[in-house]
Amino acid sequence: MPRLSGVPDCRIHPSLLSADFADLAGSARRVTPAADALHVDVMDYHFVPNLTFGLGTVEALTRSASLPLDCHLMIADPDRWAPSYAEAGAQSVTFHAESATAPLRTARAIRSAGASAGLALRPGTPVASYADLLREFDLLLVMTVEPGFGGQPFLDHVLPQVREARRIQRERGLTLAVQVDGGVSAETIAQCAEAGADVFVAGSAVFGADDPGAAVESLRSLAAAATAS
Ligand code: DX5
Ligand code: ZN
Repeated sequence: MPRLSGVPDCRIHPSLLSADFADLAGSARRVTPAADALHVDVMDYHFVPNLTFGLGTVEALTRSASLPLDCHLMIADPDRWAPSYAEAGAQSVTFHAESATAPLRTARAIRSAGASAGLALRPGTPVASYADLLREFDLLLVMTVEPGFGGQPFLDHVLPQVREARRIQRERGLTLAVQVDGGVSAETIAQCAEAGADVFVAGSAVFGADDPGAAVESLRSLAAAATAS
């Protein structure tokens, strides 16, 4: 399905966390070409109480999926592991501020390996604390659930953080995407777009739908409509 013309740049990244783990390539095909990228949630049983994919799966997806890969690392010691995901061919690699000890060095290593660098914040981590670092990043991920699991309810108390992220981006003239992740659905995406998000991760709202590709198109239209006026 071709992209709708005249729609502002609202990007939808379906999360494979809600896909069929035994058929990731098939799940990817179901949202291709509707989606803008595949969101790959890497969890390690340490930073979050869940375990998902690692580097081998990401490498396999670069071969079997035609969409770009947006890797969200929910892991301990991202300074050590994040650059490998860029070297493996991910289009963007996002790691958590809470578990990084050298975020600027890690962002530079990701960019040097040819990927976009993203900084992720848990719902309770203030955006303003990281404002001075953001010029070294391409994307800020504001979590709208506690990281670890799909299908959780959207935390609307995080929306002021999304607004703050967009305010900092505008005020400082940064080239920075603002991504939201967690509980994003047809019911919540407009609020996220109005608050200033332009990249939307959706897991259960996409892969829980009968037609995941149509769900992606519908979410994009809702986000675009919320920012059109
Ligand atoms: C949660 C993950 C999300 C998750 C979102 O830690 O980072 O990407 O898959 O799933 P939904 O959209 O179902 O909340
Ligand atoms: Zn995620």
